[in-house]
Parts: sequence; C-alpha cells; structure tokens
Amino acid sequence: MKNNFLFVANFKMNLPFKKSIEFVTSHYDDFVALTTQGNHKIVLCPSFEGLFPIVEMFKETPMFVGAQNCSSHTHGAFTGQVGPQSLHDVGCTFCIVGHSESRKEFGESDDKIAQKCIHLLDYDITPILCVGETQEEHKNGKTLEVLKAQLAPLFDILNTKTTVHPYLTPYIAYEPIWSIGTGCVAKLDQLDMVYSWLVDHIQHNSPKIPWKLLYGGSVTPENSDALKKLERIDGFLIGGASLDFERFKQIVE
Ligand code: PGA
Repeated sequence: MKNNFLFVANFKMNLPFKKSIEFVTSHYDDFVALTTQGNHKIVLCPSFEGLFPIVEMFKETPMFVGAQNCSSHTHGAFTGQVGPQSLHDVGCTFCIVGHSESRKEFGESDDKIAQKCIHLLDYDITPILCVGETQEEHKNGKTLEVLKAQLAPLFDILNTKTTVHPYLTPYIAYEPIWSIGTGCVAKLDQLDMVYSWLVDHIQHNSPKIPWKLLYGGSVTPENSDALKKLERIDGFLIGGASLDFERFKQIVE
C-alpha cells in the first residue's frame, strides 16, 4: 500500500442529517485515532447539509471532509445547486464528481463533469472524479473506450488552461458500475490492466498534473487486503462499508 493512501467514506443519502451527526459524533475519537495512526488520510463525505457541522467538528484534527457533488456553474440562477465557492466557504476540501449514481440520476454529461473538476480546482478543492463502465460495456470489452470518453473533455479543458494547480493532487476513482453496492469485484489482474492503462493515458494527456488513482466498488474488510496490493492505486472510495465504523476501521487498518 502506498504512503498517504486515501480512504474516502461516501455516505451517499444513507445517513440523513441527524443520523450523520450522531454517527460521526459517536465515533469522533475513533475517527481521530484512526486518522492519526499510519500514513493515510481519511475523507468523510456526508450529504450537503452535514458538511458545515462536520467540518467544524473536525477542524482541529487531520480529518478531511468532502462533498458528494457540486454544480458545474460557479454562481447564478441555478435553483437547487450548490456551487464550489459554497463548498470552499464551509471548509470542504474534497468533492466527488461524476459518481455513476449522479450521472444516472441527473443525466450529467462528461463535459459538465469536467467543468465541475475545473471549478473545484479553481476553488482549492480536490476533485475526486469517478469513471467506470456498465456491466454490458464490461462484457463487450469496452472498458477502456468508456474511460477514455469520460476523461476526454477534462483533458481538453486542462490542456487549454495556462494555470494549473501544482499543489493539489486531484483523484480519478475507477468504479466499475457493476461493482458498486453489488459485492462483485473485478479480478485483480483485470484491475491491474485498467490501472496501468489509466496511468499511461493520464501521463500522456495531462502530464503537468500529479493525478492519483482510487478504486471504488464493494470495498470490504474481506477484500481490502487484496485490493491494497494493486500497485498503482492511492486509495479507496468506500460506500456501504463506510456506514459501519468497525468495518470501515478494518479496511483502513
Ligand atoms: P460501495 O459504493 O462501496 O457500496 O460499492 C462505492 C461508491 O459508490 O462510491
């Protein structure tokens, strides 16, 4: 496992406001203890309304707090949206974008998702950009083609920008959609092939940015040791198992 391995707890909409505060409060000391042992970082991603209190709770600690999505606009008449500046103002330092559940639910395009990443970088928030193929695409051998198309608009914009953000290390999370919440994880050699392609592809298309890679999709204490052996990954994006502190802890440890 690499140094500075990142464990991102994606609570999704599973913990409504009161429950998320109760969960985090009741494990406050455990989270802090977990984050101070070893060379890793932990990011908690509650729903929007939980961000401010959870940032406040952990502000004197090495824990990070992230959002689960943001608007592709910076300000204006966008009812129901939360912009990157608000996330920055509440003290959020990470933000997941392009999660397959958001892509599906809101019909988000690759262009919009790329725009979100750029705005997040502009507001000093580390984007965690999710990419991944459906089961059908996987079966038809289209994985790399899908990932390439999902990443293309981002690299196009970045390559026209004169300023990059060398101090931020944005993340790309490979999450095969058929692995999310299903208990199915791809074989390690398949994952290894995808990550080695991603490393080359990113290096070729965005050489100035120190991208890091995450794996997401049914990470559990039972499979995390094996997944940590994947040489090219820098962390996990964890959904279901992050809702049970003991299971999350076992994954981290
Ligand atoms: P899961 O979710 O760990 O429950 O599969 C991962 C994710 O959706 O980020």
